[in-house]
Amino acid sequence: MEPYVLLTPGPTPLPPSVYAKLAAPILHHRTTEFSRLFDQLLSDLKYVYRTENTVLMMTASGTGSMESAVANLLSAGDKTIVCTVGAFGDRFVKIHRAYGLAPTVLAEEWGRAADPERLKDALRSNPGTRAVYFQHVETSTGVVNDVKTLAQVVRDHSDDALIVVDAISGLAGEELETDAWGLDVVLTGSQKGLMNGPGLSFAALSERAWAAVEAAKLPRFLRLIKEEGIENVWKRTAALGAFTRQAAAQTLGLKLFAERPADILTAAWLPEGVDGTKLLSAMRAEDRVAVADGQGKLKGKMIRIAHMGRISRSDVETGIAALGRRLSAGAVR
Ligand SMILES: Cc1ncc(COP(=O)(O)O)c(C=O)c1O
Repeated sequence: MEPYVLLTPGPTPLPPSVYAKLAAPILHHRTTEFSRLFDQLLSDLKYVYRTENTVLMMTASGTGSMESAVANLLSAGDKTIVCTVGAFGDRFVKIHRAYGLAPTVLAEEWGRAADPERLKDALRSNPGTRAVYFQHVETSTGVVNDVKTLAQVVRDHSDDALIVVDAISGLAGEELETDAWGLDVVLTGSQKGLMNGPGLSFAALSERAWAAVEAAKLPRFLRLIKEEGIENVWKRTAALGAFTRQAAAQTLGLKLFAERPADILTAAWLPEGVDGTKLLSAMRAEDRVAVADGQGKLKGKMIRIAHMGRISRSDVETGIAALGRRLSAGAVR
């Protein structure tokens, strides 16, 4: 690829020493050498963040960290305020709404910064606000918010509202004092001022933020499983597995492949002479149903239907019906 001058506000060009590290032989991630490096990195991040707080690393883009700062801090019905001065502020609003929250939105005309006076009024008229969200730099417009003043307004008008700052583009470029300004959650991404590739994001959390994490009740990863109960998940999956095996064997007349069939997945032989790869790709394109092919030496010879997680009985029925139509219509040979 021809080199080009990268002047985008993330990703940014990497220093030659970082490119060199990326080309170095892989470091095994289950070694003490890696653990030491990882600890060092998290502690160096504190320096950049100007914090003594814990800094978390997430294998998610910046947007993932924005979602985590909503999903892990709040509960249904919580009052929040989002100051938005552009596209990334609007993204915070969308994330709130996706979780069923109804934030008070303080929107400014694009090009302007968040207004501390409006924030003051909003906090006065919304007692009990759990958290205030805003950007450090709003990258869609090039505006830098006065984070220090906004944070001061929150502290002066609320005892415990969390201050959540998206510094995904701003950190490591613009002045930001996590501890001195009393910021509770500060987010950033790897691909901007930190001079790395995209795909990692970070969050510094204050003690107040950790307490909020403990209390938060929005649906989160694993919460659904905990609510259903793992034994019930096993039972539900086993029932769907039994249903699928019976449908594959009896409705479709296929021979099951596994000696001890799993409950999460049914593998079955296709009839002799059927080109499974063609059949499944036609099914994906025309019936809009995706069933997995065999792998390695089994490619084209079998089907693998999953029935785990959110997959429902009616999803499986749709898949079986689509397979049935194709097999009885003289499958692709
Ligand atoms: C202020 C701000 N917030 C959020 C994001 C989203 O980050 P990502 O593209 O890594 O999801 C960006 C990216 O440009 C940003 O500048």
